[in-house]
Amino acid sequence: MFAALMILTLLAGSTLSSFHDYQTPLYAGTDPLRIHGVSTNISTLKLSSVTFDTYTALSHPRFPAHQVRVKKSNFCDPTVNVYTGYLDVDSGAKHLFFYFFESRRDPAKDDVMMWINGGPGCSSSMGLLMELGPCSIDMQNVSSNGTIWNPYSWNAEANIFFLDQPVGVGFSYADYGETVETTEDAAKNVHAFLSIFFESFSQFKGRPLHLAGESYGGRYLPAFASYVYDQNQVALAEGRDTLNLTSVLIGNGITDISTLYAGRYEIECGTAALDVPFQFISTCVRMKIALPRCQEAMRQNCVDQFDAMNCRAAVNFCDSELSTGYWASGRNVYDISKMCVGDSLCYLEDAAIKDFLDRPATRELLGVEAPNNFSACSHDVGTNFNSHMDKWAVPAQNYVAGLLERGIRMLIYAGTYDWQCNWVANKLWVDKLDWTGQAEYNAREWRDWVVDGKKAGETKKAGVLIFATIRGAGHMMSVSMFVRRLTVLLKRLMAPTSRMISLQNRRQWCLDGWRRWNFEVHLLRRSIKFGFVRNDWSEFAIGWLGTMFPAWLHILRMAYHGHFPSSPSFLILPFLSVLKSLSGCPVAPLDHFHSFSA
Ligand SMILES: *[C@@H]1O[C@H](CO)[C@@H](O)[C@H](O)[C@H]1NC(C)=O
Ligand SMILES: *[C@@H]1O[C@H](CO)[C@@H](O)[C@H](O)[C@H]1NC(C)=O
Ligand SMILES: *[C@@H]1O[C@H](CO)[C@@H](O)[C@H](O)[C@H]1NC(C)=O
Ligand SMILES: *[C@@H]1O[C@H](CO)[C@@H](O)[C@H](O)[C@H]1NC(C)=O
Ligand SMILES: *[C@@H]1O[C@H](CO)[C@@H](O)[C@H](O)[C@H]1NC(C)=O
Repeated sequence: MFAALMILTLLAGSTLSSFHDYQTPLYAGTDPLRIHGVSTNISTLKLSSVTFDTYTALSHPRFPAHQVRVKKSNFCDPTVNVYTGYLDVDSGAKHLFFYFFESRRDPAKDDVMMWINGGPGCSSSMGLLMELGPCSIDMQNVSSNGTIWNPYSWNAEANIFFLDQPVGVGFSYADYGETVETTEDAAKNVHAFLSIFFESFSQFKGRPLHLAGESYGGRYLPAFASYVYDQNQVALAEGRDTLNLTSVLIGNGITDISTLYAGRYEIECGTAALDVPFQFISTCVRMKIALPRCQEAMRQNCVDQFDAMNCRAAVNFCDSELSTGYWASGRNVYDISKMCVGDSLCYLEDAAIKDFLDRPATRELLGVEAPNNFSACSHDVGTNFNSHMDKWAVPAQNYVAGLLERGIRMLIYAGTYDWQCNWVANKLWVDKLDWTGQAEYNAREWRDWVVDGKKAGETKKAGVLIFATIRGAGHMMSVSMFVRRLTVLLKRLMAPTSRMISLQNRRQWCLDGWRRWNFEVHLLRRSIKFGFVRNDWSEFAIGWLGTMFPAWLHILRMAYHGHFPSSPSFLILPFLSVLKSLSGCPVAPLDHFHSFSA
């Protein structure tokens, strides 16, 4: 749930309320943990010893400045073990709240996923209770406990936790007003959280980890995942355990800011969302005139180089020329097919969730110790991030490229009805993303992906990158149909290797091989044309083989680099024909392939 707040702040004239100093932890290094309200002995415990009544404190000698307080809870999903609690980071000064739901399938084997909402400043309980959590807020007053069980929850097949971060969001709080005001700072606390989470919930250690979120998550997650990846390298070098970071999922995210307004124009005034645009023609004409100026101002002051003052002026110009028309229309900024109802977040659910989470009984059930009442999005956190121009200051897409180059799988998906962080803007930045798979990605054709026999959206995949649209869904996939689709998408993301080798998928398997092969040939021709012949045909063949037998790739490459001499490129085609016939794939490339495969 991205910056409704921030947009409002901008529309209201961008007054910066305060400039917070970064605060250092109050208790550093060897000082004893100062955790208020916990009398339990601090030691490394098994989850099985955690109780419903009081917090059990878990700590680890390697993280002397952090501890987890956790309790069991009857919240939301009676079919699984549910834990809620706080991670106390930075010597106990910051308390990050989380909900943890075991998988409904096989908690002992299933992957682990983290979900965060955006903002910056919005609580992950919004995603939990409105979108993909094990229960949804009861809007019809039919349930005695305030929630309704959600059969399509993502914990259907994954252990999932919802984290309120950074400090100040949702039920997370700080003792002495410590704040986190940039994504890069937030990454450190999230990494601390993940590390101690896996140390404490040690039965999940080593399990594949997926980082997921939406909206401002498009800025958060690439930075968080990169920090995790880099810290893994440090840990490896020191012989410590690593976090098994496997994939990153971003829904309706804001990542590369350069395409945002062009996308919004297409959603509002083009046919990217609705067959017939709803906006006044006169408004669209004004927008169309302003767009190149907005783009140019952003390019000069935010993108090519970042200048805080001028970038803010550019963004203010873009918002006033290209966003006010939409807000004035009264439509829901997260779903063009609906009107904005309730508060600035445009959904009635927001008020209902606040009401539910503020009830003393709910707070008790969850073990909330935050001194403040709940708010869906923290105004202070949003303002603090805005004061650093966090959304514009760092090109988050570069983190994405860095992760892709290192084999971290990435799913960028977007509901087609969202205006705020719309699918067109996402498509545009993914198209121009600068990474080695770019040419392959752009050469791929769009394919429909299908759920229950119906088209769910369109998708494209190259290497570890998947882009997918979800037809008719908004920013928040609150309708179960969309959650169901998303769940299907997710499952496919999470099991690509087994799919690749499964016999049922041989058609797709062959197709991917062919595509990859065509792409390699294309690269080769280009290299020849530009005068540098790839000297190692074996490398090329191995790349192809690698798509067929991913697990072998590494071994083959090592063997090759150790032993094989370079060979002339004219050997490639015959060599590959032989390989292809050996692989048992049909000889002619398959033209159309309708189902989606991750
Ligand atoms: C902490 O552990 C020690 C030894 O195991 C025990 O004697 C003591 O009563 C415990 N304290 C609390 C508060 O549980
Ligand atoms: C929900 O229903 C209960 C009784 O079934 C009633 O007491 C309560 O006022 C209702 N709440 C709302 C918000 O309608
Ligand atoms: C809450 O009530 C609903 C319907 O009354 C039920 O389906 C659900 O399992 C309940 N949730 C919990 C946590 O007991
Ligand atoms: C990460 O998870 C995969 C899949 O379960 C597993 O094969 C691999 O060994 C794990 N890696 C680590 C470092 O635990
Ligand atoms: C929380 O909300 C209640 C009821 O609206 C109010 O009485 C209380 O003062 C609020 N607490 C804080 C810390 O804002």
